[in-house]
Amino acid sequence: MSINVGVIGVGAIGQGHIRRLSHVLSGARVGAVTDVDLDRAGEVARDLPGTVLHPTGAALVADPGVDAVVVTSWGPTHEEYVLACIAAGKQVFCEKPLAPTREACERIVEAETAAGRRLVMVGFMRRFDAQYRAMKDVVTGGEIGLPLLMHAAHRNPSVPDFFTSDMIINDSAVHDIDVARWLFDEEIAAVTVLTPRTSRKAKAGFHDPLLVLLETGSGVLVDVEASVNAGFGYDIRGEVVGEDGTVELSESAGVVVKRAGAYSGRVPADWRERFVRAFDAELQAWVDAVAAGGTTGPSAWDGYAATVVCETGLAALRSGAREPVVLRERPDLYEVAP
Ligand SMILES: NC(=O)c1ccc[n+]([C@@H]2O[C@H](COP(=O)([O-])OP(=O)(O)OC[C@H]3O[C@@H](n4cnc5c(N)ncnc54)[C@H](O)[C@@H]3O)[C@@H](O)[C@H]2O)c1
Repeated sequence: MSINVGVIGVGAIGQGHIRRLSHVLSGARVGAVTDVDLDRAGEVARDLPGTVLHPTGAALVADPGVDAVVVTSWGPTHEEYVLACIAAGKQVFCEKPLAPTREACERIVEAETAAGRRLVMVGFMRRFDAQYRAMKDVVTGGEIGLPLLMHAAHRNPSVPDFFTSDMIINDSAVHDIDVARWLFDEEIAAVTVLTPRTSRKAKAGFHDPLLVLLETGSGVLVDVEASVNAGFGYDIRGEVVGEDGTVELSESAGVVVKRAGAYSGRVPADWRERFVRAFDAELQAWVDAVAAGGTTGPSAWDGYAATVVCETGLAALRSGAREPVVLRERPDLYEVAP
């Protein structure tokens, strides 16, 4: 039986997830949509036979025909919808961020903990990327020995006008923050942010690139170069250095061309191209877990921890100092490591 999914927010990624649920994945269909931009939601609904258009997110969550919900509206609106899903006992897949503030994430963690079961999955899709998964297998399998440090880079070719300087950490580096917690199965203990010479392509007021240094609880050091004016493409890099070897994401997911004394390969144009399969795998895993009566993947705790590390990173950028990450005690509901 197919799961009827309601989608709140039909912008860029909302429409991507609707396309996946409707045409790529198995076991689910889009049963309802809504958006504050109702015209846009109406247009999307028109292309989906049998899909109901709801006037608000609250009405969509309350619809008895909606089995589970995907939240792809703007970050500050996530909390309201995720809390409504928890109150209704419905599984919810929430795009990152779970919520943009520590307090909002705490309210979600508290509500889910009170419900006594996991109802929330957060969209950190890199955990479903084939290369990152292979990297984690090498790290956890002990092949390179004890991990000591990681070099990472998150390079955007450019960013739209609405992109603010805080988003270099909140929107870009947040993925590397989640990867670090997941790869090493531990929390980030402290953040330092260094500001090299600023690119002449950066908007006024931006420090771009940034070097974000994450320290895990056991002392693994992760350096993340985050830049949003790389120009040449969307370039995601990662290399873990262990006592006995290293593991790195490969240079290209496609082919390498050798000709005329040179070799070349494609750099993805943007996050959609680089992570298209990861988004598919992530949402399929959620659909399968919902069909089995539960959820999977990044939890509300992971969403909370990522937001707190981002807030700490922004504090570190402003202070120029090493800032400790202060997390509340992890409820037993989230006892499985990240
Ligand atoms: N995992 C990823 O790599 C990834 C990539 C892109 C976006 N995202 C996240 O997905 C979310 C949406 O991003 P986007 O790029 O699709 O943005 P977008 O602006 O293209 O779309 C957001 C949509 O939400 C709607 N909306 C805003 N407030 C609403 C509300 N209160 N109720 C209902 N609808 C509302 C807007 O009208 C818009 O149609 C953001 O949280 C973003 O961080 C994650």
